[in-house]
Amino acid sequence: MKYSAPRGTHDILPDETPLWQEIEKKCHKVFCLYNYKEIRTPIFEATELFTRSIGSTTDIVKKEMYTFPDRKGRSLTLRPEETAPVVRACLENNLISADNLTKLYYIGPMFRYERPQAGRQRQFHQAGVEAFGSSDPALDAEVIQLGVKLFEALGLKELEVDINSVGCKKCQPVYREAIKKYFKENIKHMCEDCKQRFEQNPLRILDCKELPCRKYIEKAPASVDSLCGECKNHFEQVVGWLGSLGVRYRINDRLIRGLDYYTKTAFEIVSKQLGAQNAVCGGGRYDNLVEELEGKSIPAVGFAVGLERVVEIMNNEKLIMKNECKISLYIATIGEDAKKIGFDLITKARENGISAEMDYMGKSLKAQMKAADRMKADCVYIIGDDEIKKKAGILKDMRTAEQREVPFDELISQNSCGSDCSCGCE
Ligand code: HAM
Repeated sequence: MKYSAPRGTHDILPDETPLWQEIEKKCHKVFCLYNYKEIRTPIFEATELFTRSIGSTTDIVKKEMYTFPDRKGRSLTLRPEETAPVVRACLENNLISADNLTKLYYIGPMFRYERPQAGRQRQFHQAGVEAFGSSDPALDAEVIQLGVKLFEALGLKELEVDINSVGCKKCQPVYREAIKKYFKENIKHMCEDCKQRFEQNPLRILDCKELPCRKYIEKAPASVDSLCGECKNHFEQVVGWLGSLGVRYRINDRLIRGLDYYTKTAFEIVSKQLGAQNAVCGGGRYDNLVEELEGKSIPAVGFAVGLERVVEIMNNEKLIMKNECKISLYIATIGEDAKKIGFDLITKARENGISAEMDYMGKSLKAQMKAADRMKADCVYIIGDDEIKKKAGILKDMRTAEQREVPFDELISQNSCGSDCSCGCE
């Protein structure tokens, strides 16, 4: 039997991992600049956490969750997103309150049973932030600015911030009614999914990507026209702050997010470089979620970035990262005695932060030199019988081809290969 990765999943191969590491490093750095602390939550949670938070009529809950009973019959789900798990962890560990700002971030895999296509996988990775405790519109703007700054740090261009307000408990029913009234006439011409959405969750219709439906959606009422005074004021302030922060945005009054927990601000950062799945980042405010998950009333705002989509853009734009894990020192040995000495020396090198490698394949000296070349080693240190007698090996600088004799006990203390660990792992 030939095994392959499950449909919609992919291996991240050694050629690609330097780019992933660099992206993750940038995320840690930029999130830290904005005072976010990392949180790691389990990959699976009680199913109810997601059905209650994301919404039972959303596509994610209806069709996309990997849900299974454990051996005791408890229903568990591989996390399709991480906002709800973070809220759960905060409540369980008392991390948040209504009078303190708590800022958390995460990086990790998510799981959605979607139809795989470019930009859409069944296992994908997100880096996200969640800020709890403040309803200040300036914080919404800061969160959006953080997304933009992260992409700038990664060298991504041609991105656009789309922003909308989806209102609150007070104004959402007003908008829902306006939408129902508008679509009532035309729903018979729209797709089967939209017909279902019309009955269960009419706002979801705005998210439909089917071309025949789009022409009706484009003329639908905008949520900003149904906002209550408070939401309207909040929205005006968010865009005001974005303006004074110099963040360029576009008001997209058709923007509806695929999760039900949003209130007021909803936004996406989209790339012109991607096809149909063009959102690299999605987020917004969710002021009721903590309370809906049995906590106090604590407002919150956040976003998540789809890392596969970031990688795709970086590959398209040939934004190559220099963080390749290179070997500084390769020790080539001839014979068992030389191998023992070589083994001691690579151990010492690694203890001193110098990346080092030797041969475990019984290769000839010529083949070992070739292997060192393939690894792009800075230096090769050669030990054969003669060198053992002299207690000194031959150090070849692979960049200049210069050779010189270096005693065994001076190789590491001299840092003879002239570089420390070049893989940037500090
Ligand atoms: P989301 O819009 O569902 O939001 O996902 C955020 C990002 O994850 C998307 O913009 C996209 O880049 C990426 N993404 C989503 N699904 C897939 C997929 N199947 N394959 C590849 N990439 C994908 C959330 O998940 C919210 N939890 C974001 C949030 C945080 N809101 C507030 N805080």
